[in-house]
Amino acid sequence: MSELEWDFDSWVRTYDEDVEREDWIHADYEEVLKLVAERVGGTVVDIGCGTGNILCFLKCERYIGVEPSRGMRAKFKEKHGFEPLDGHFLSIPLLDGTADAVISTYTFHHVPDEEKEDAIKEMLRVLNPGGRIVIADVMFESEKEELRIGKEDGTLDEVLDEYFATVEGLKELCERLSLQCNFKRINRYVWIVEMLKPAQSLKRS
Ligand SMILES: C[S@@+](CC[C@H](N)C(=O)[O-])C[C@H]1O[C@@H](n2cnc3c(N)ncnc32)[C@H](O)[C@@H]1O
Repeated sequence: MSELEWDFDSWVRTYDEDVEREDWIHADYEEVLKLVAERVGGTVVDIGCGTGNILCFLKCERYIGVEPSRGMRAKFKEKHGFEPLDGHFLSIPLLDGTADAVISTYTFHHVPDEEKEDAIKEMLRVLNPGGRIVIADVMFESEKEELRIGKEDGTLDEVLDEYFATVEGLKELCERLSLQCNFKRINRYVWIVEMLKPAQSLKRS
């Protein structure tokens, strides 16, 4: 993808103020980051890490941010003193089996529906066997629910403008990839999804 498509640079200046607004996307923002942070440990890779707000809550041995926007990476460095890697969901610049957990908050909706499975496969690639993916984002039970909520709340145009996942779709995806998964609804819009990479089976001698 071109640099233009990663142009979150213009949002960098106001991003940390914007997430404090309790609008429909960012309601419970801090709580969501805390809930994701408390589910992971060891080496944690954070895809679309933005300005790195989750670092306030993470207690892990090693943190690796991955972020395609140059502006976001610069802001992250200004705040935390080190820079995330330049990469994205379909190209994580890490070796296979590097991480105990791959997390992503408020970013998965930037992945087009037809690329979501490849994105999950790329996250699985960098995970150790037995590792976990934890994704927090706006999601809906189904497309039907997405339309209903969008209409009821007057958010339909914004909702249809992004690639919000459905729980139905992600469950099917997990079934295809033989992943155990669980879903927790945090509020009307935001869910946390956890997918577990199977541990390697022990070879019998
Ligand atoms: C709404 S911000 C979320 C930032 C941070 N994770 C948080 O919770 O505050 C979305 C971030 O995802 C990045 N992004 C957009 N498309 C992406 C993709 N396909 N892969 C990885 N990151 C992406 C953007 O540059 C931006 O920093």
